[in-house]
Amino acid sequence: MEQISRLIAQMTLAEKLGQLTMTAADYAVTGPLITPVSEDAIRSGAIGNLLNLYGAGPTHRIQKIAVEESRLRIPMLLGFDALHGQRTVFPIPLAEAGLFDPAAWEATARLAAEECTGDGLNMTFAPMLDVSRDPRWGRIAESPGEDPFVGSVFARAKIRGFQSANLAGPGAVSACAKHFVAYGAVNAGREYASTDMSEAMLREVYLPPFRAAVEAGVTAIMPAFTDLNGIPMTAHVYLLQNVLRGELGFDGVLVTDYHAIAELLNHGVAGDLAEAAALALKAGVDIDMMSDAFRLGLPEALRRNLVAMEEIDTAVRRVLVLKERLGLFDDPYRRGRPDVGMTAQSRALARDIGARSLVLLKNGANSLPLAARKIALIGPLADAGAEMRGPWGGAGRIEDCVSVLQGLREAGLDIRHAPGVAIDTDDVSGIAPALELCADADVIVLCLGEAALMSGEAASRAYLGLPGAQQDLADAVFEKAAGKSVVVILFSGRPLAVPSLVSRAAAVLAAWFPGCEAGRAIADVLTGKVSPTGRTAVSWPRAVGQVPIFFGERPGGRPFNPKDHFTSHYSDVENTPLFAFGHGLTYGDFALSNLRVEPGNPLRVKVDVENRGARAAEETVFLFLNQKRAGVTRPVLELKAFGKIALAPNEQGTITLILPPPEGRAEVFVGPNAAFTSLLSLSI
Ligand code: GLC
Repeated sequence: MEQISRLIAQMTLAEKLGQLTMTAADYAVTGPLITPVSEDAIRSGAIGNLLNLYGAGPTHRIQKIAVEESRLRIPMLLGFDALHGQRTVFPIPLAEAGLFDPAAWEATARLAAEECTGDGLNMTFAPMLDVSRDPRWGRIAESPGEDPFVGSVFARAKIRGFQSANLAGPGAVSACAKHFVAYGAVNAGREYASTDMSEAMLREVYLPPFRAAVEAGVTAIMPAFTDLNGIPMTAHVYLLQNVLRGELGFDGVLVTDYHAIAELLNHGVAGDLAEAAALALKAGVDIDMMSDAFRLGLPEALRRNLVAMEEIDTAVRRVLVLKERLGLFDDPYRRGRPDVGMTAQSRALARDIGARSLVLLKNGANSLPLAARKIALIGPLADAGAEMRGPWGGAGRIEDCVSVLQGLREAGLDIRHAPGVAIDTDDVSGIAPALELCADADVIVLCLGEAALMSGEAASRAYLGLPGAQQDLADAVFEKAAGKSVVVILFSGRPLAVPSLVSRAAAVLAAWFPGCEAGRAIADVLTGKVSPTGRTAVSWPRAVGQVPIFFGERPGGRPFNPKDHFTSHYSDVENTPLFAFGHGLTYGDFALSNLRVEPGNPLRVKVDVENRGARAAEETVFLFLNQKRAGVTRPVLELKAFGKIALAPNEQGTITLILPPPEGRAEVFVGPNAAFTSLLSLSI
């Protein structure tokens, strides 16, 4: 720390502001504007950090300018969004959350960190921890789903994976938990819209994953673009200083989202860049990503006494401390190795995680695993390797991605393929030729859904159905199929409201975007080589009108009662989701019984599980709590634990779940998902 104090004492204002500036290169476009990275600005110390550059060569070259040609030789933070993989692209986070497996979540982050550091990076803008209950919002794809407990376990696993036990090590990167906070609650699901909520909702639902991230030692956090109750997060003194830094004890770096400080003018809370810069600095922001507000606005803010030099020094110190903790002063070239790319091991992990992220939503008449060999593979997502990466495919190469068509053919199936329609056009001319393939096929596999960029950032949708003419294709295939089994594979960054498609299909597999090994992972499940274990980490609506829809609702004074008109319901759709949180079928047939609670602190909740099916499979079980008379109304279900058990046919086992003792009387629920009809319960 002495070195840092000495360094700060030597720094000019311009050099200090350079450390508080992060500029984007153009290896990926993740924001509204790009300015060419000026090597002279790095040489002069005016830019101290970069994002969206990767590769050992380019990063070492740019780091060399900072370290060997600038006056103070301060190494740069080099960040990139390896949200679900760097070169090896894993399933999107919403899909990976559905593994309900912290060890897997950590393993993919660990591998992503190895590839990021191989590419010379020392920071990644991940994990995204925004609880998401509105599938109209495209960034639900990047989230761990609707539940704060899942988001908290996910946060800890990801931060362990990215930062490892030795942050200065050659394979570790600084994680950056984002987007603080409640970005998932944008008004009407529309991207970048405002958020408004009670303090209770904020603390119960949206804060917990960030609390977990801080407890796990995350070294950077990114405030959201959005305003919460009228105050933009980038300038939110109460939430950034009092709550995040004060109450939660976060002492790391706050890096803004892309261009967010300058956008305080659009929010209407700042009259010019100097005011915007002052607001952000006083809120505790340390690094200005891509708005140049600190570099251009803080000198004027100092002149106007809007900020003090001590506040600038505090931010500079936090940035330099992070660089020191990353080992950048010891060896700025520690990270970076040539030929970073997918390996047999990374592919094997991507294939395993991919298969385990698939959610078998429906399996009528046990249509899956496929018994047939002659398959008509129809739909615009069948031969679409590039789409499999999802909206944050990052540095994943299109040529590395395995399509469904390739995966099924490699599995030795006799495939006849036609796209039928494009993903999102109204051209139906390809439907007729596609139907011809159905004639002599044993099974029809329909690959439908969204393009990768129809979810993710700046990708909200007001409707949750199939895009373009895909429903026309599906209807035509169902008509033509006449008794043949139609298996639907859905690709999307969000749950889709497709009740009629589901009712007409024999089987439905939610594939989300499974990553670069998509085709092989899907073939493994379709052929029965792998029994599906994925569960949905978010409720699936029947209609967009139900949104936001989630299991943790409060009961209200008139909970739904089919016998009483004056209770909570819609006149045109059921209250329940199409598929409940946690839903996902396997190739087994599980029965739960004998729920019991062993006293102690914590309580040990046990349930017996039997696989009555003919195939080995893995069951996931959830433990919910409903707390009674807690003074304020409590959600009808609060998720407190989850566990898994793999059982051979006719094998029995017991799952033990740990439950912190509840305040007062409560009801314990245990089951395979959040649908009340599937839960065992016990009063405690
Ligand atoms: C984007 C995203 C953020 C990302 C950042 C850098 O606008 O909002 O999630 O980390 O810019 O790419």
